[in-house]
Amino acid sequence: MEEKNKDQFAVITGASQGLGKAFANELAKRKFNVVLVSLPGQNLSQLSDWISREFKVQSFYYETDFSVDSNIRALANWLNENFNVSILINNAGIGGTKQFEEAHIDYIDTIIQVNIKATALLTHQLLPNLKRQPQSFVLNVSSIAAFSPVGYKTVYPASKAFVHSFSRGLYAELKNTNVFVSVVNPGAIATNKEITSRIERQGVIGKLTLLQPAKVANYCITRLLRRDTVIMVNPLTWLLAALLPIWIKLPMMTQIIKREISYEKSICDRS
Ligand SMILES: NC(=O)c1ccc[n+]([C@@H]2O[C@H](COP(=O)([O-])OP(=O)(O)OC[C@H]3O[C@@H](n4cnc5c(N)ncnc54)[C@H](OP(=O)(O)O)[C@@H]3O)[C@@H](O)[C@H]2O)c1
Repeated sequence: MEEKNKDQFAVITGASQGLGKAFANELAKRKFNVVLVSLPGQNLSQLSDWISREFKVQSFYYETDFSVDSNIRALANWLNENFNVSILINNAGIGGTKQFEEAHIDYIDTIIQVNIKATALLTHQLLPNLKRQPQSFVLNVSSIAAFSPVGYKTVYPASKAFVHSFSRGLYAELKNTNVFVSVVNPGAIATNKEITSRIERQGVIGKLTLLQPAKVANYCITRLLRRDTVIMVNPLTWLLAALLPIWIKLPMMTQIIKREISYEKSICDRS
């Protein structure tokens, strides 16, 4: 790209699949130009082409791996050099279920790098750009897991608690500027087969609370543009998380997750 594009863009991380892809579609449907960011090898160029044809908006893409520190800075530089960013959606995020002691050091490092560092550093590096726009928005994707520590998940809920706290603090700091910061704390979303079957195994409550990515994206963007500072997508899960005291939810959630590990182990042992 030779000259900076004069139009405004929405940047979405983790845009090749799941909730990120749903955010990209939702924003393009509302006629926002988009920049899609994902890991390499995720067919992002095809998605980008499809979005620009389908919704008649400008769509660009950038492939990178957030587990490498310098990649986050390189992405921020590329965005600042080429685009006016009026919406930033920090959606990329990973988790998993593992006994902490047995987890590989790279597994822990990558969760921290993608969920915490990429969110904070990208927002920091894009803030001057966001401030130059007449009105701009940051939406950080946390999780309902931010409200309860869970054994066998450990680092993921802690990383999402960071995302939640970081977003609330930044909202307060930027309250009187043109940058509005919001955070969403979804419960389970049917973004892939693994999540869907895991939640369905949790029984009626799991099935009742499972959400579809397109609906979540639609709701989040509506609430973001209406300047909702904390977006709650599933009221039932939110109510449970808010009402249950920590001495009930910590052992309860840990037991549920422990059962999942035992179930997966028994499947592996049988196959
Ligand atoms: N699904 C749920 O039940 C649920 C519930 C609560 C919160 N969330 C949060 O919602 C967000 C999206 O979740 P999802 O279920 O749609 O995601 P997903 O299908 O599990 O995929 C993980 C996301 O993180 C990105 N990502 C993973 N490793 C990366 C790396 N090294 N560098 C850059 N990007 C990387 C992926 O991007 P690409 O594949 O596009 O490269 C993808 O968007 C996450 O922050 C997640 O924590 C999900």
